[in-house]
Amino acid sequence: MRDRMRWGAALAACAITAWAILGCGEDPEPTGDDHTQTVMREIFEGIRVALPASIDGSVFSAPNNQGEIFSALDRLARNAALLEKHSQGCNAEMGFLARSVERDAIEAKTSYQHGHYKRAAFVLRQIVESCVICHTRLPSDCGSVVAADFVDKGVMASLPPQPRATLLIATRQFDEALQALEEVLTDPLTHPAIMLGPLTDYLVVAIRVLGDYERPVPVFKAFARRKDLWPSLREDVNDWIAALPSLQERAARASTVTSARAIIDEGEALDEYGDGQGSLLHFIVASSILERYIEAHPMRNAELGEAYYLRGILETRIGRNYWVTTAPFFLEESIRIAPTAPSAAEAIIVLEREMLAAYEGSDIEELPDEEEAHLDELRALIEGS
Ligand code: HEC
Repeated sequence: MRDRMRWGAALAACAITAWAILGCGEDPEPTGDDHTQTVMREIFEGIRVALPASIDGSVFSAPNNQGEIFSALDRLARNAALLEKHSQGCNAEMGFLARSVERDAIEAKTSYQHGHYKRAAFVLRQIVESCVICHTRLPSDCGSVVAADFVDKGVMASLPPQPRATLLIATRQFDEALQALEEVLTDPLTHPAIMLGPLTDYLVVAIRVLGDYERPVPVFKAFARRKDLWPSLREDVNDWIAALPSLQERAARASTVTSARAIIDEGEALDEYGDGQGSLLHFIVASSILERYIEAHPMRNAELGEAYYLRGILETRIGRNYWVTTAPFFLEESIRIAPTAPSAAEAIIVLEREMLAAYEGSDIEELPDEEEAHLDELRALIEGS
């Protein structure tokens, strides 16, 4: 009962923001189970049951559990379809992410139905990436109360801090996610060589979501004192600490694509070794400015096209992984928005490279016909034919 009341309060507090974030122009009249909050809660319920079960293959496929798991996956798929419906006509990125959740949810359900448990578990993890991407786009002062007890209970409690942080972000428990990532960064047993991912997640949540440029400072100071850092990483971390206050000020004032581009150019110059490490902070700050710009400027002109192009470029550099990435979406959108702008000509080159990179490690050397035709269509737009 107490939980129910907490739910109620959280939903009431978040209801307005949720619609604002979805970016729908008209004032929606949420009714019954069509309400976005209800949809989000139902999606969360589906994930809450199915995801922990999917971690252990024998639990996931056990005949005794199949009924409950299947209905959780069904719940997830039905509500993902509603989420997709909600996002139609809203912000294009939300639409893109909602469509991928819907597609993956259907695949998870049908794979499970046909006994392809490994595939279903893989696709479920992929869905979690989409939750993370959607929840980390924009500032939020509205975490989730409903999800508060989700992670530390049962199977989740046994997760190492990094996957735990992913789940916390997926369920909008941003403060707890930062705590988990702080654990990773200070863990003497985790080698700094694998810290770029956690550092990226940490900065994305602190800066893009919570707008908190101060919390990372003591954390990075402690991190820089680690004995096992190589000199260039220590230097970069010290540079980030020094740059945070001025970047905070600039980000607060920035409202144009030009201001984002200036920060990207500075970041580029800091990338001494071409591994993206030195530019990380600047890129994340720039991505935050661009997301806000895109959100606030529905007018499809050359400037918006460039915003999408730059956002796409940044995502190829700071994105979490290749399986689920919005980079191709941003690049394609930039071409469709302003096909004759210089940014479109650049975008098509990067897009082609990204599409090929997605096949890296497979024996495919050329893009499948379908994808080649897709690129041809975009090229024709650029050439104005
Ligand atoms: C298309 C974008 C999008 C995707 C994809 C998405 N969400 Fe959300 N989610 C939102 C928005 C918008 C809110 C409301 C945020 C607010 O009110 O500030 C939200 C809120 C939530 C909440 C908080 C509910 C509450 O009131 O406390 C939870 C939990 C949640 N999402 C879980 C998930 C999970 C799990 C997934 C992946 C299966 C997911 N979301 C995928 C956009 C998305």
